Amino acid sequence: MQQRGQWSGRLGFILAAAGSAIGLGNLWKFPYMTHHNEGGAFVLVYIGAVLLVGLPIMAAEVLLGRRARRNPVGTFLALGEGRPGGKVWGGLGFLGVSAGFIILSYYSVVAGWTLHYIVLAIQGKLASLAMDPSALSTHFSEGFLADGTQQVSYHLVFMAATVGAVYFGVKGGIERVAKVLMPLLFAILLFLVIYSATTDGFSPAMKFLFRPNFGDLTTSSILEAVGQAFFSLSLGMGAMLTYGSYMRKDSSIPRSVVEICFLDSLMGILACVIMFSIIFTFDLEVSQSATILFTTLPTVLIQLPLGSFVLTLFFVLVAFAALTSTVSLMEVVSSYAIDELGWTRQRATLTMGGVIAVFGVLSALSFGANATLSGVNLFGKESSLGVFSSLDYLAANWLLPLGGLLIALFVGWIMSPGDVREELEEGHRPLGRQFGFLRFTLRFVAPIAVGAILFSVIFLGAEYQ
Ligand code: PHE
Repeated sequence: MQQRGQWSGRLGFILAAAGSAIGLGNLWKFPYMTHHNEGGAFVLVYIGAVLLVGLPIMAAEVLLGRRARRNPVGTFLALGEGRPGGKVWGGLGFLGVSAGFIILSYYSVVAGWTLHYIVLAIQGKLASLAMDPSALSTHFSEGFLADGTQQVSYHLVFMAATVGAVYFGVKGGIERVAKVLMPLLFAILLFLVIYSATTDGFSPAMKFLFRPNFGDLTTSSILEAVGQAFFSLSLGMGAMLTYGSYMRKDSSIPRSVVEICFLDSLMGILACVIMFSIIFTFDLEVSQSATILFTTLPTVLIQLPLGSFVLTLFFVLVAFAALTSTVSLMEVVSSYAIDELGWTRQRATLTMGGVIAVFGVLSALSFGANATLSGVNLFGKESSLGVFSSLDYLAANWLLPLGGLLIALFVGWIMSPGDVREELEEGHRPLGRQFGFLRFTLRFVAPIAVGAILFSVIFLGAEYQ
């Protein structure tokens, strides 16, 4: 077996794991889901899901990875051995690797959109488009989204960048990028929040986000909030498990997990505060909430002092935030091929990356009325986004929660409590009552909550927009 890489220390792990968690899920998806689920109550359910389900499952994933020091499949095979279920648990790892494969294929398409904005900025076209909101939205929705050649090209470029970063291994690629760019992204968001607080839309935005109206809540919006918590925290498919497998024994798991969950949720909420302040200030009609990041935000950034610079820098940072997430998805799939199939890192990243890139072309071609694949609706879901949103729906709302549920059951019921405790306390102080609390959430709270939601959607039916 090849020697496994390791993070340089706890900071290295935090940066990489937060880099995985923070990405398009926070900046693109969370605001648009909050918009179409009517704010307030959705945000509250989301926060509840992070605390009750996300936090314990993240601890579970990281401890599994660090204990087994393997990819998801190898981890469940090794730790399941001699326990109830035995080798069958390997299937859970495989579910995760497949989810990583699917998510990366369409995530990279949206990540490609950020590259398009960087190219527009370099060509000097972004600023003038952003100054005219209707021109920007026409350009984006009618010109760019429906242009299959551009969609595919940017997606392939982004996949190439992802493969490149993973090719150079754990420390070389991922850590270095995360160390500089994450704090910068945080700084720019903070600056924009301060700016938002001076606008008229700030107070209606805060009301929209933080005053829950439970009448708005439907079974499907609860499922979406929980699915979004899994997606945003990179849980349920072994990304955190894989990163945990590179974590040093002297780093504290409980502390790291709390910090990552906090940072990730903060970023999503900051993004919402910014975007909804803008929407309310300018009384914008949001027809397609899925494009808020690309059509709404630029029109305001451009009006700030040094607008064109801020706008360009912003999309560069979003692109890197997306890259640190795609790298973690790619890492799950390649570490599986490296450990289980015995491939070299180079072969694993190039082959798997190539297959995922080709599969992602289906998603890239699913936008716009005339797009080749826009009419394809898998799983009977009503949607104008075709393959793309069907895959997103399948992965985020079903595969990740299901994976998370089984991970909670594995750590809560199958592993010996002594092993779980030992791993959690390694690099941390002895856990008192917190351990009992964590174990209780993993055994009961998380599985029952997630199980009840999946069950009610399957058997009681739910409406989807
Ligand atoms: N958490 C990432 C984001 O919010 C997406 C992701 C999901 C990454 C699952 C890895 C695994 O953008």
